[in-house]
Parts: sequence; C-alpha cells; structure tokens
Amino acid sequence: MKLHIAVLAGDGIGPEISVQGVEAMKAIAERFGHDITFTSALCGAAAIDAVGDPFPEETFNICREADAVLFSSVGDPKFDNNPNAKVRPEQGLLAMRKKLGLFANIRPVTTFDCLVHKSPLKDELVKGADFICIRELTGGMYFGEKKEGDDYAYDTNAYTRQEVERILEVAYEYAGRRRKHVTVVDKANVLASSRLWRKVAKEVAAKHPDIETDFMYVDNAAMRMIQEPRYFDVMVTENTFGDILTDEGSCITGSMGLLPSASTGESTPVFEPIHGSWPQAKGLNIANPLAQILSAAMLFEYFGLTAEGALIREAVDASLAQNVRTPEIQVEGGAKYGTKEVGAWIADYIRKH
Ligand code: IPM
Ligand code: MN
Repeated sequence: MKLHIAVLAGDGIGPEISVQGVEAMKAIAERFGHDITFTSALCGAAAIDAVGDPFPEETFNICREADAVLFSSVGDPKFDNNPNAKVRPEQGLLAMRKKLGLFANIRPVTTFDCLVHKSPLKDELVKGADFICIRELTGGMYFGEKKEGDDYAYDTNAYTRQEVERILEVAYEYAGRRRKHVTVVDKANVLASSRLWRKVAKEVAAKHPDIETDFMYVDNAAMRMIQEPRYFDVMVTENTFGDILTDEGSCITGSMGLLPSASTGESTPVFEPIHGSWPQAKGLNIANPLAQILSAAMLFEYFGLTAEGALIREAVDASLAQNVRTPEIQVEGGAKYGTKEVGAWIADYIRKH
C-alpha cells in the first residue's frame, strides 16, 4: 500500500518518541513491501516559536493532504503559568481536531499482564481489564462559546443532536466487534446537555438491540473504573468527561506511556499517544515510546492492515516480556534501556519476524 504520513512531533518528549514511531513504521514498510513517505510539520510551542501560530496553515495543508497524521505531544511549561499568554501550544491541538473534523477519539485502555503490578490498583482488579473510551472530540466546553473577563468567566457545554448521534454510532460500531456492551457516561441528573445525550442515546440504543446499553453518571463512572475496571467494554462520553476519564484509565494500566489513541472524523485521521509532552523528561532518553509505537499499530489497523498492526503489537509484547523496558516500568535490577534503545529493539524485531 502507498501511504503518505504527516509527522507532527511537537514539544517536550514529542520529537524523541516520534522518531521511534516512524522507525517502527519504516520497519513495517520494509517487512511488508509498503511504500510509506513521511512529511514533518510544525505544531505546538515549536510552531509558536517558529511562526507565532501553534497550528500553522502550512501544517494544516500537510495534514489535509496526507493519508494519516502521526502526532506526538504539545505543551511547554513556559506557557502554563502565564495567564497573559495570547497563544498556547494546546490551541494547536484543538485547532487540528476542529479543522480536520476529528469528532471521534478512540482511547483503548488495555492492560498488560506483566505490568499489572505497576498499577496503583490491586492486581486482581486490573488483570484482564480491557475497554475502549470513545470520547467526543470537537464539541462541548472545549469549543462552546466562552468569555474570559477579570471578574467573570464562563464556558458553554453545547451539543447538537447530530453531534451526539454520530459519536454514539461510532461506539456501537466498536461494541459490535467487541463484547457488545456500551456504557453511556453523562451527568443527566444535573446538565441539560447530558439530558440531550441520554435522550439521543436511548433512540440510538433502540436501533442496536443486539448490544447491551447502560447509562452511568460521570461521577459514578469515575468510581466504577477503579472499583471494577473489567465492567466496561465500550464507554462513550462527551469531550470534557472523556478527557478526565481517560487519564484515570491510563493510570489503571500502570504507566501513561503505554496508551495510544486514534482520532477520526471527516478528514485525515490522527494517531497519537494519550500522554502529554512531559517537558521535564525532554532530551533525557527516558520517555516510553510504546504509546507512540502502538499509535502506529492503530494507524495500520485503520487502513485494514491488520497483520502489520498485529506484528507491532507482538513486538511490543516481546519487548516487555524480555524486559526491554524504559525505566518507569523496568523490573528491579533490569538492564537500562532508554527511548532509543526500546524503539530500536522493536524495529529490529519487526524486521526479523
Ligand atoms: C488530551 C489532552 C488535551 C485535551 C490537551 C493537551 C488540550 O489533555 O488529548 O487528552 O485536553 O484534550
Ligand atoms: Mn487529556
């Protein structure tokens, strides 16, 4: 297959993990005879520094013309505690989502048996937990009308029926291929927007009688996720709730550096780790490249290249089994591997299998 990939490395550890994602993809291209080309583009703080815009028009055009985007992370502490900053790196990510119409964010929470002991939860709770959070990504408070005054500020959590319907359809599609269980997460006891979600969800659920649907308030869902993570199969929710719940989900698995995601919608799909730019680790060769490499697996799977995705997953499992791991998940007394070494080991495994 011919694929043209836009590579947006961004800030912090982004550039380091990005290289490893690209290396894994190049290894797959060689192994399976695909023709994959890569074009790098600026985003985030790196783009603000270079051209004053966190998602420049040129980057947008490169993304739009590509078959997929391999994204890493954006964010820089120099903007975080500066309320006067006019542009922020995160706005680049939001602009990308909006301009590419990426309304569906697919965040699988997959646990690895050999890492359950790294989870803050008890082993017996975590073992076998495997669910997907489908997060609505271009609506809600992130994009609603807002006002930011000195003494008064607000954000608006607005959703249309059409926005709710299309994200629910994505959830049912995933559930149909999995354990046929959708949990709709909302706050319908308080929020009008959530009541619309619930009303629409009941209608969509009726069209999918083969799939079990239940409804859960977000506060309860946050609790249930740590009490009984195995309860969930496909969870679907609005933008802000999804942001919060997926950080919680990533922590269940033992390391934030393990979880990939896909954002799909109207234009080019984007594949990215769910973690941030971890600026403190920049340049130290300690960031875990697995979430980025697994994002590349999701990219191949999106194009129906399941054997390619499976080989990446096999390589990741093998690296963990052989303790080729970055420091935050390495076993006691285990050898030292950095971002580069783990990435190189995985690329090498792909070429040889
Ligand atoms: C995420 C991130 C972003 C979000 C930030 C960086 C804007 O936390 O992808 O989850 O809030 O969506
Ligand atoms: Mn987040």
